[in-house]
Amino acid sequence: MDEFLRKYQEFEREFECALARCCAEMNFQPKILADSMRYSLLLGGKRVRPVLFLGTLDSFGYDFRQEMNFALALECIHTYSLIHDDLPAMDNDDIRRGKASSHKAFGEANAILAGDALLSYAFDLLFDSCKKSLRHIEAAQEISRAAGAEGMIAGQSADLFYSGKSAGEKELEFIYRNKTGKLLVAPIVMAGILAGGETDKLRAFGEELGFLFQLTDDLLDVKGEQNTVGKTLGKDEKEDKLTCVKVYGLTGSENLAKECVEKCRLMLNDIKEMDSAFLKGITDFVLTRNS
Ligand code: IPE
Ligand code: IPE
Ligand code: MG
Ligand code: MG
Ligand code: MG
Repeated sequence: MDEFLRKYQEFEREFECALARCCAEMNFQPKILADSMRYSLLLGGKRVRPVLFLGTLDSFGYDFRQEMNFALALECIHTYSLIHDDLPAMDNDDIRRGKASSHKAFGEANAILAGDALLSYAFDLLFDSCKKSLRHIEAAQEISRAAGAEGMIAGQSADLFYSGKSAGEKELEFIYRNKTGKLLVAPIVMAGILAGGETDKLRAFGEELGFLFQLTDDLLDVKGEQNTVGKTLGKDEKEDKLTCVKVYGLTGSENLAKECVEKCRLMLNDIKEMDSAFLKGITDFVLTRNS
């Protein structure tokens, strides 16, 4: 098997074990609260953010098993963002990861609360690790900024603001870099901070990878297969979202994605203090993904 895939599956397996343990310990009351939190966490998904974090740590030769709390916090924040993104007031999508979205399974109010609870739970996990060192505090601050009004929420707000409006490249880039990019930059930079690495180049690479990730997300909405994508397709056009397809067309977007991959590769060639093979693999994975 391809070495990249073997590594991805190893990090994913370790992460799934930690997540299963964490979910088993969720005894929150009333039971519907814990059930709804667990439901979305265990629906599946690619686990790209925890894998990116664990993979970057490993690329620095750092024992990634020591930092599972951070990996869990990343996935809790991502999952909360998906639950809220699917709500009727936002993208109104009844399918997530091939199953009923949280609000379809538990009702809208419970879905809002499941998302809220996952965000707070993530901070509990982060604070636990912050006791370890100053570097851990710095890494936790990276994700807290990435999740909020300077990051994912800013992007979601702009995504809503520009729906149904005519806007261009600049606005699209703001949306991409924030709603998606920030939660993909964070795992890479957090790992760099913990490993004592130089974070500027990692951040620049993460920004390009995040941009590529949303390019392929928008392309999958148009060209993907329902069974593998696991969410309602063709929704972006229906809701007149500001997507790459709207701004650059289908072929233009595909070409842009290839250019992004080239930039990512060049940036990684310039990072000498770690083994960049895994991050190169993940770049190709993001370009060619079918879900
Ligand atoms: C979907 O993220 C939302 C975006 C930021 C584009 P993923 O494609 O990582 O979703 P899962 O976790 O694999 O379901
Ligand atoms: C969502 O972008 C990004 C988030 C912060 C969740 P999309 O709305 O395009 O994500 P999908 O396609 O529903 O997964
Ligand atoms: Mg959305
Ligand atoms: Mg959506
Ligand atoms: Mg999408």
